[in-house]
Amino acid sequence: MKISVIGSGTMGSGIAQVAATSGCHVKIFDLNNEALIKSKISLEKVLNRLIEKEKIDAGEKNRIQNNISYVNTLADLSDSDLVIEAIVENLEVKRKVFAELETLVSENTILASNTSSLSITSIAASCQKPERVIGIHFFNPAPLMQLVEVVPAIQTSEEVLNKTVQIISDWKKVVAVAKDTPGFIVNRVARPFYSESLRILEEGLADMATIDWSLKEIGGFKMGAFELMDFIGHDVNYVVTETVFTAFYFDPRYKPSLTQKRLVEAGYLGRKSGKGFYNYAENAIITKPNEDKEKAKQIFERVLVMLINEAADALFLNIASAKDIDNAMTKGVNYPKGLLAWADEIGIHWCVEKLDNLYNEYHEDRYRCSPILRKMKNENKKFFN
Ligand SMILES: NC(=O)c1ccc[n+]([C@@H]2O[C@H](COP(=O)([O-])OP(=O)(O)OC[C@H]3O[C@@H](n4cnc5c(N)ncnc54)[C@H](O)[C@@H]3O)[C@@H](O)[C@H]2O)c1
Repeated sequence: MKISVIGSGTMGSGIAQVAATSGCHVKIFDLNNEALIKSKISLEKVLNRLIEKEKIDAGEKNRIQNNISYVNTLADLSDSDLVIEAIVENLEVKRKVFAELETLVSENTILASNTSSLSITSIAASCQKPERVIGIHFFNPAPLMQLVEVVPAIQTSEEVLNKTVQIISDWKKVVAVAKDTPGFIVNRVARPFYSESLRILEEGLADMATIDWSLKEIGGFKMGAFELMDFIGHDVNYVVTETVFTAFYFDPRYKPSLTQKRLVEAGYLGRKSGKGFYNYAENAIITKPNEDKEKAKQIFERVLVMLINEAADALFLNIASAKDIDNAMTKGVNYPKGLLAWADEIGIHWCVEKLDNLYNEYHEDRYRCSPILRKMKNENKKFFN
């Protein structure tokens, strides 16, 4: 199978590696020749590391490298079966590239975008044959993260969707099919992990070390919300929240936090700038959490119920199936359990009561219980049997 990747940055390079490892012939194109050279060098390093870890041998390394060629024009991609675009996150630039690409490839070539936040439908509308356009959203780093969200635009044909799911499954990835809505599954359902933690901090109910400790110790999350935001970078994490908030017509459930905005303004971007919520300087004082288990349980449960509500609402609005929503969160962001399975375990009754209590306390729309949770409670149902 002939695959092409446009953009040889972080994501494009990772996607090319995944496809080449699965035996596809891959062409990778970038406007910037230096980015192509960098991509080639970084693949060499990655593969050498895999040899050191005895994950692959020298023969396998050669096979993967020989499957990839680096090209200098868009026209070089004309014989592809599937083209995946991973260039700058700008709608107008992407639409221009798709419109040009369509004139160069065959009629049956599938055209995909790896965008995290833009409308696939709008990208597809730049093409004469929009039914062949689809979203294929990998997570960073693409070779390591198991999840891929496949996002049909409203114009995408059933055939293109089925073929795409088959190709990505053949690359040994877990596919979750998502509706073309802001944040798809993961970037939407994960919002309360950050926003509710920030809210608890802003209200002064606990400090960040205690909130992080609660999420890890009681919840089993690999990282606390503040550690994770620092790791992702506040410039990136804040923009995703703001984009989702704006795209949902300012639904208060996705409202960004001023506390995080101030960090961005100050240039305290997290690990990469040496300071975010935490200080990463060598002799910085490490804040100790309050390890009161009862308090930690309350903090964790408040964040969890907000995550469950968001996952349930995504199901309610047919963004994806229950199985795909749970797979997305466990395979895309390494949550310890799928949120809907977690709701079943902890009890739908409990979730509704907890959300209603929050709503009654604050009278804010962000705490409204998803209709599907209330209906399931009334009918004594579970998400999975
Ligand atoms: N970085 C992530 O964590 C992540 C995760 C999932 C999806 N994405 C999405 O993937 C896409 C790429 O992100 P990235 O982080 O790899 O970016 P990046 O900046 O690392 O790489 C983008 C590359 O595209 C090239 N480019 C820009 N315009 C081009 C054009 N018109 N034609 C050809 N090449 C062009 C640039 O030279 C650069 O090498 C974006 O749409 C982003 O939203 C990113």
